[in-house]
Amino acid sequence: MNWDADRIPDQSGRTVLVTGANSGLGFETSRALAAANAHVVLACRSLDRGRDALDRIRDETPDASLELLDLDLADLASVRSFAERFGRRHDDLDVLVNNAGIMAIPRRETADGFEMQFGVNHLGHFALTGLLLDPLLAAEDARVVTVSSTAHTGGKMRFGDLHGETDYGPWSAYSQSKLANLLFAYELQRRFEATDADASSVAAHPGYSATELQARGPEMRGSRLRKLAMGLLNRIVAQDAEQGALPQLYAATAPDVVGGAYYGPDGFMEMRGGPTRVESTDRSHDRDAARRLWEYSENATDVSFELVPTEQD
Ligand SMILES: NC(=O)c1ccc[n+]([C@@H]2O[C@H](COP(=O)([O-])OP(=O)(O)OC[C@H]3O[C@@H](n4cnc5c(N)ncnc54)[C@H](OP(=O)(O)O)[C@@H]3O)[C@@H](O)[C@H]2O)c1
Repeated sequence: MNWDADRIPDQSGRTVLVTGANSGLGFETSRALAAANAHVVLACRSLDRGRDALDRIRDETPDASLELLDLDLADLASVRSFAERFGRRHDDLDVLVNNAGIMAIPRRETADGFEMQFGVNHLGHFALTGLLLDPLLAAEDARVVTVSSTAHTGGKMRFGDLHGETDYGPWSAYSQSKLANLLFAYELQRRFEATDADASSVAAHPGYSATELQARGPEMRGSRLRKLAMGLLNRIVAQDAEQGALPQLYAATAPDVVGGAYYGPDGFMEMRGGPTRVESTDRSHDRDAARRLWEYSENATDVSFELVPTEQD
């Protein structure tokens, strides 16, 4: 689809929160939404990197309405503190973009003992969304956009070993976390519908976009060769982050977005191109797995959503 950031409807009066706003797709998303007059809350785990991002946006859009808050999705205490601080400053949240992520890193654990990729990419965002439900439901026609990946296609929910304690693979853990993002996004939409909430949940993916994401795993493994190879691929194959952010920007703002839909690039193998509606695997639509993941996530994070469960099929 021929759609770019210039077609974002005016966002005056709307509050948007982007996780991982200092880098890559989160930065581009924040930049574009600020230029469209949204009040953008940059949620970053490093205030220094966040400040730098805020300055870069302000250089380009001097009257941008921006706010920086620290959020570490690898620590539930930080997620709770973030939600409390957000709640003290804002009654409404119009758009939540669950964007932050890490990919294919060696096995690490969050402050709460979760495997890092599952913990940051899924559980941290699950908790954040649940803790921000009041401001989301207070807004008119709120949207939750959760960023997944084509990597979800290889993902399997290993409910017996979600944290890779018995068997860990950096890529299988990433794929599982990205499948969890979709199961969550679709289940949240069903729960919004079941409660007649004035809100929708959608998912997006950026294809293959050159960001910092690809370097993290090789860096943590100390593999200079892999880092070089990833850098080369980023330069030759990937699209730039500005283009990669379009599906999530479309999902966050386009008037014709459908709750429960998934948006990604329309080009070769969904790796690049303009935003369009895309399909995800049968596994991502497995309602039993979604309910199981939801219950597991509520227990693991101790965050409950005040939305009634969907009825059994
Ligand atoms: N790039 C691609 O080709 C691609 C493809 C498919 C899906 N995605 C998805 O796109 C999303 C954005 O990734 P990106 O490509 O823009 O990567 P990126 O440039 O590495 O940005 C990731 C962001 O997430 C933040 N983050 C990491 N751990 C965090 C934590 N514990 N708490 C809070 N924030 C944390 C990072 O903060 P720091 O800067 O402080 O590390 C950074 O701001 C991810 O969900 C990723 O899975 C990307």
